[in-house]
Amino acid sequence: MKRTVSESLFEKAKTLFPGGVNSPVRAFKSVGGSPIFFERGQGAYVWDEDGNKFLDFCCSWGPLILGHAHPDVVDAVQTQVAKGSSFGAPTRMENELADLILSNHPYVEKIRFVSSGTEAAMSAIRLARGYTGRDKIIKFEGCYHGHVDSLLVKAGSGLATLGTSSSAGIPQAYVNETIVLPLNDKAAVEEAIKVYKDQIAVVAIEPIPANNGLLLQEGDFLRFLREVCTREKIVLLFDEVISGFRVGFTGASGYYDIKPDVIAFGKIIGGGMPVGAYASSAEIMSKVAPDGPVYQAGTLSGNPVAMAAGIAQLKQCLQPGFYESLKAKTERLVGSIVAHAQSKGYKFNMFNVGSIFWVSFSEKKSVRRMDEIDENGMKKFAPLHLALLERGVYLGPSGYEVGFVSAAHTDADIDFAIKAFCDSLDELSW
Ligand SMILES: Cc1ncc(COP(=O)(O)O)c(C=O)c1O
Repeated sequence: MKRTVSESLFEKAKTLFPGGVNSPVRAFKSVGGSPIFFERGQGAYVWDEDGNKFLDFCCSWGPLILGHAHPDVVDAVQTQVAKGSSFGAPTRMENELADLILSNHPYVEKIRFVSSGTEAAMSAIRLARGYTGRDKIIKFEGCYHGHVDSLLVKAGSGLATLGTSSSAGIPQAYVNETIVLPLNDKAAVEEAIKVYKDQIAVVAIEPIPANNGLLLQEGDFLRFLREVCTREKIVLLFDEVISGFRVGFTGASGYYDIKPDVIAFGKIIGGGMPVGAYASSAEIMSKVAPDGPVYQAGTLSGNPVAMAAGIAQLKQCLQPGFYESLKAKTERLVGSIVAHAQSKGYKFNMFNVGSIFWVSFSEKKSVRRMDEIDENGMKKFAPLHLALLERGVYLGPSGYEVGFVSAAHTDADIDFAIKAFCDSLDELSW
């Protein structure tokens, strides 16, 4: 496969951006080689600057649940942009998207739009602190909530000990407010709550952790978090930036039927434009400025072009059978590849929930925590990624990231992907 144009664009990009990219995982560091520069996308396919065509399972890391350039989304964006792209004042588009979400999502009553998932998580944490008057945060090893200072923290040496920062530039004082616990471990949560009695503002979790593999939690653990948070007057924050509107319109909250106190959204609600949001009960949201004392604002928040894209996309998601069809396609993809791998005795497995899937290089039937991931096995992701690229299938360039099936993937696309995966696994003889 010729990638000379991408390579020369990357050479230029390296002179312009740190690592040649505007978000680190795009740099192909964990799969080797240089990143592919995309020129256009249509439906389930993307074309790169060299003219290569790929079946896309990255889908911009999740937002593109309808695939690329869905006609309704394109139309909505073009119509709105021609009317004006930003006013810094309210527009009816914000009402429309909020109405669409709130009237179909029984777990939240009021919402505030921001411009990214990071902003959503950051603002939700501030709201939780402002609401409870407490400072400390519990988060879980393996969950990502954007590049928020107090959330870029990884586990320390023991249970309920304070974490260490996972990025330079995070003040120790912030780290000291964050407790990082293993997923799926009730005892660790109880112990931390005992040690930091009445100091914990929020338990933040990706209810479907999908940023370090797909670490599917038992519903029982999530229900336990709900009970503990209610008992201890702690805000339960579900970060549904990936799972929201993905595993169903009501996301993981609906999937597990658990009502968190606050939900952070992103990705799908923007139809491919930069949007995030946080939502909660009317009572908790009354603490947000200008109604309440928790300050949060944004020049481009509720941007009408992004709202238009989100409205067009979410209307499609509400069509009968939308999520059932996505799930069926994904289960066929995963089921067929896993059956092939098993018939050949390969040390390979795939997990999925709804239209999110993850490839894992072990035979384990469940992986619920980061320390259950076979790190050595994960080294096989790089050659698999390359073998799939050569066959015209694009996965996000990291084995710890999940893949997404979109409504644009046809049955024939799924057949094509199954063959590409099976042939790649055979070529690599695992
Ligand atoms: C669960 C979760 N929360 C927050 C974020 C941050 O969102 P953004 O990249 O839009 O800032 C991400 C991004 O992938 C995410 O997966």
